[in-house]
Amino acid sequence: MREAKPILIFPQDNAVSITINEVTLRKAYMILGREKMRSFFKEKSIIARWMIEDQGGWKMLEVVYSGKILTGGLNRYLLTSVPAEGLRNRVKAVIRYLEFQIKEIFKDVKRLKIANLGCGSAKDIITVAKNIKNFNPVYLNYLDIDCVDIDQEALQYAEQITKRELRTNLSSIRFINRSLVSCPYHKDVDIVILVGIICGLSHRESVILLKKIKKYLKPGGKLIASNVAPRMLERDPFFSKVVLEEIMGWKLIYKTPKEIRDIFKEAGYNCIDIIFDEPTRFHIIGIGTPFT
Ligand SMILES: C[S@@+](CC[C@H](N)C(=O)[O-])C[C@H]1O[C@@H](n2cnc3c(N)ncnc32)[C@H](O)[C@@H]1O
Repeated sequence: MREAKPILIFPQDNAVSITINEVTLRKAYMILGREKMRSFFKEKSIIARWMIEDQGGWKMLEVVYSGKILTGGLNRYLLTSVPAEGLRNRVKAVIRYLEFQIKEIFKDVKRLKIANLGCGSAKDIITVAKNIKNFNPVYLNYLDIDCVDIDQEALQYAEQITKRELRTNLSSIRFINRSLVSCPYHKDVDIVILVGIICGLSHRESVILLKKIKKYLKPGGKLIASNVAPRMLERDPFFSKVVLEEIMGWKLIYKTPKEIRDIFKEAGYNCIDIIFDEPTRFHIIGIGTPFT
């Protein structure tokens, strides 16, 4: 069979070489207004283009996670922003929590099933699998990891990275192209990962989604669900309100820890923990287990 064409997401860009910072952007926004700024962003930064044209997409996140700074003033501004740092911290916090949980569960249970819903590039679980393999390759045989996404390209990319990073047989990691609300699980998953999914959903929509996912989890299983926190809006109002909302058109629903706890409760979970990305604390990561 012919090898699939590799997916490249670090292209050379039609970038502006001038320095861009909040002061220059603020002035430009006042002079040009929203529509012209949006066109400027799309033309001068591939990151901005993805963020505008594919809201909630995975490519921007993968570049942010990589820590690589693409050429060009606008790319540099976006990739070195504090909210970008928050995203890198979020993935690290999820990885740390997953590794801790996996070790805990392995004490009592022989096999462990994990579903990463809306996995995108699956940076979190691929890193966890790689670290576990380095710790003891045999452990990988006791993990069943499903990476689920509706975007086939995301899955192809995640598979390509898995092959590169793990250099091992992939029988314990599956890439599944389907909607996260229609997975064929029935109380057989130990850990569900839902990162970067409910940030754009209202309280009510989040409750409906979490209720649907609840049937996937074993009794005592854990849901890891992240949401952007109001702290990002307070700490970086220019980036949150002007860049993300006005120019990029993102409608994030910032939620407090109390709102996350309420969402879990209304959806039928005990919220057993709330963890934050550190040190920015721009993201709340709620850990829930279904009511018995
Ligand atoms: C913001 S990204 C988050 C990716 C990843 N979880 C992360 O933290 O980097 C959202 C991902 O969810 C996927 N997605 C959106 N709606 C979905 C659905 N109904 N079913 C499965 N995947 C979905 C998108 O294709 C995208 O890859």
